[in-house]
Amino acid sequence: MGRARLGLATLVVSAVIALGITEDLPCRARDVGIPGRSIVCVCDATYCDTITREEPAPGTYVAYTSSDAGQRFEKSFGVIETVSNQEESVPDVENPEESEDEDEEEETLRRVVLRLFTIARFQYIEGFGGSVTDAAAINWRKLSDAAQVHFINSYFSRTGLEYNMIRVPIGGADFSTHPYTYNEEPRYDHALSNYTLSDEDYFLKLPMIKRSQAVATDEVKITASTWSPPVWMKTNERITGYGTVKPEYYQAYADYHIRFMEEYEKAEVKIWAITTSNEPINGFLGAPFVSFNSVGWSPRNLGRWVASNLGPTVRNSRFNNTLILAVDDQRYNLPFYLLGMEREDPKSIEYIDGAAIHYYGNFIPPIIMTAIQNRYPDKILLSTEACEGGMPWDREQVEIGSWDRARKYVKSILQDLNNYVVGWIDWNLCLDPTGGPNWARNYVDAPILVYGDQDEFIKQPMFYAMGHFSKFIPRGSRRIQSSRRTLLHCKMQRF
Ligand SMILES: *[C@@H]1O[C@H](CO)[C@@H](O)[C@H](O)[C@H]1NC(C)=O
Ligand SMILES: *[C@@H]1O[C@H](CO)[C@@H](O)[C@H](O)[C@H]1NC(C)=O
Repeated sequence: MGRARLGLATLVVSAVIALGITEDLPCRARDVGIPGRSIVCVCDATYCDTITREEPAPGTYVAYTSSDAGQRFEKSFGVIETVSNQEESVPDVENPEESEDEDEEEETLRRVVLRLFTIARFQYIEGFGGSVTDAAAINWRKLSDAAQVHFINSYFSRTGLEYNMIRVPIGGADFSTHPYTYNEEPRYDHALSNYTLSDEDYFLKLPMIKRSQAVATDEVKITASTWSPPVWMKTNERITGYGTVKPEYYQAYADYHIRFMEEYEKAEVKIWAITTSNEPINGFLGAPFVSFNSVGWSPRNLGRWVASNLGPTVRNSRFNNTLILAVDDQRYNLPFYLLGMEREDPKSIEYIDGAAIHYYGNFIPPIIMTAIQNRYPDKILLSTEACEGGMPWDREQVEIGSWDRARKYVKSILQDLNNYVVGWIDWNLCLDPTGGPNWARNYVDAPILVYGDQDEFIKQPMFYAMGHFSKFIPRGSRRIQSSRRTLLHCKMQRF
């Protein structure tokens, strides 16, 4: 896209004293007692902080501030003046500016000039959310009924982050107390004659999903991913390690996904999207790099399976409008998989609706996603998994009160949104204070930690980082171009 001429509105916003705010319950802050950390907000059966969205009067705005120093969604109000309407050129839209002026924050808080280029329009937003793993649901169920309500409201309700996306594992993942699949017995059962959901589905995941949907302010769209098929479908006949799907079970593995959607439908939970298996690279790594539920797909075989089995099976089923999202792995694997699938069978690309992307390769510049979007313009890009503390070099899996980890979430979400990603799904909605349970001891951090014996949970800075997006970018929003380039001009006016 080249440079375009357009009418440009330059807005000047300045802070004024607030009147008539909805009274939200403030964060009940706890100092975590570790130098360099921010505070956490404590919730229990009797108290939990809330956040409601104000409807700004015409010509005014509401700002919500969270800070390392301890502010959490603190509201301030101001007026917007439209300074001028002038002919101007849009900045190069292929290289969106990143906000580099961090040390000017103080300056810009009170007087910001935003230039909105409403003619430069990009992707529509699907939403934001987190994952209902067994571990998340186990921790949630440790809380008393009243605290469970506060938890679900904190994420999904009008007084919470208004999440509208969930990811759920099909069968077990590493964040389970044990590995399992559906239809493990009898073995070599092409017909999946004994497909049975687990207790984890009936008593943990489905209740948590349904409670979330009941309080949500919008449809909660659910993305489901398989970590490992029944082991008899795999070349190594083990839940982890170097293993791929045996070609004679390609159709059974496609049917395995239909059967899941049928079972969840019986529980009145609709699946919006499925991915083509979680992190297909893991099935080639094996121990010591990956020691949890996995299945390997080479790009060629994934292309073959999607084109010949998964794609036609889904489209000819009554779940024909379920999205199929390929890759479900780190961003650096996007070209490798999508081009490889296309080369193997172009029909595989026709069957998919987009690609799912994970967080753990974000040292690769995000422009790779714009390149993929340009090559496949009618596909969506969705971020389906993110967490801090899971990398080999992380000294601590859980860093309670870490502001740095919140900052990393914000940076990553901004980069993703600036490169065509339509939604962002966090990993476990909550974990215990050690970052589990996880049968493979692959502990990580989460935005909420649950202290079951105290019947309380704490909201970490990452929780608020998610909320600054999920709460204020409703589904159907569209990214436009904006810039703050006249900041200098603005400062010159002031002094
Ligand atoms: C069916 O699966 C259940 C576990 O979900 C297992 O206990 C049972 O033995 C299986 N039935 C057959 C016939 O294999
Ligand atoms: C999709 O499935 C529905 C039933 O769930 C059916 O009514 C519809 O005709 C199907 N659409 C296509 C294109 O096959």
